[in-house]
Amino acid sequence: MFFIKEIQSLFMPEVKIRPQELFDAERFFEIISHTNLEFMEFPIKTLEEERDFLQLNEAKRRANFEHNYSILYYGKLVGACGIRIDQHRPWIGEIGYFIDRDYQGRGIATEAVKQLEKIGFEKLDLQRIVILIDTRNRASERVAQKCGYQKECVMRKIHRVGEDYYDCFLYAKTR
Ligand SMILES: CC(C)(COP(=O)(O)OP(=O)(O)OC[C@H]1O[C@@H](n2cnc3c(N)ncnc32)[C@H](O)[C@@H]1OP(=O)(O)O)[C@@H](O)C(=O)NCCC(=O)NCCS
Repeated sequence: MFFIKEIQSLFMPEVKIRPQELFDAERFFEIISHTNLEFMEFPIKTLEEERDFLQLNEAKRRANFEHNYSILYYGKLVGACGIRIDQHRPWIGEIGYFIDRDYQGRGIATEAVKQLEKIGFEKLDLQRIVILIDTRNRASERVAQKCGYQKECVMRKIHRVGEDYYDCFLYAKTR
């Protein structure tokens, strides 16, 4: 069983990432409306805000500020991932991701992070990729571990959700 899972995670052609498009708005809004995002600082509350977010993507990409991707599973949009570039140290990128609650637990985030990392190291020329994970978020921590990221430390109160501040694990990989 363990062996089959390991093989699956090495090769999942059914998972693809592509740049986010404006027409993804409705589906993204559907996903975020019913997915467990309590460990993320998530500013989008309406479909209009989702459209605004997607509209800004191209400018953010051109400015090398943020590179956001849609995650497709057998062609269906099931999640998002992205890399935000550290504007003071542009060789460092921070990865984030979420998957539709109905599609979690199939290895999709793990495969998407692997593909995104390839873009980060090979196309964006990053030297270091980090993932900040709320210390309560076991599923996300598992994704980082399965992708070969190393836990470096705990960053105290680095993360704000609503009015409250939380600690995060810092996971990182270098080229
Ligand atoms: C974190 C998230 C993206 C994972 O997506 P996913 O497609 O289900 O991830 P994968 O299937 O690739 O891997 C999930 C792993 O976490 C494990 N897991 C899930 N829930 C868990 C829990 N409560 N405790 C421990 N492990 C857990 C799964 O068993 C799996 O590990 P395994 O393959 O060793 O069995 C998804 O849960 C999500 O969207 N969460 C909400 C948004 C979020 O928290 N994003 C991360 C911000 S850093």
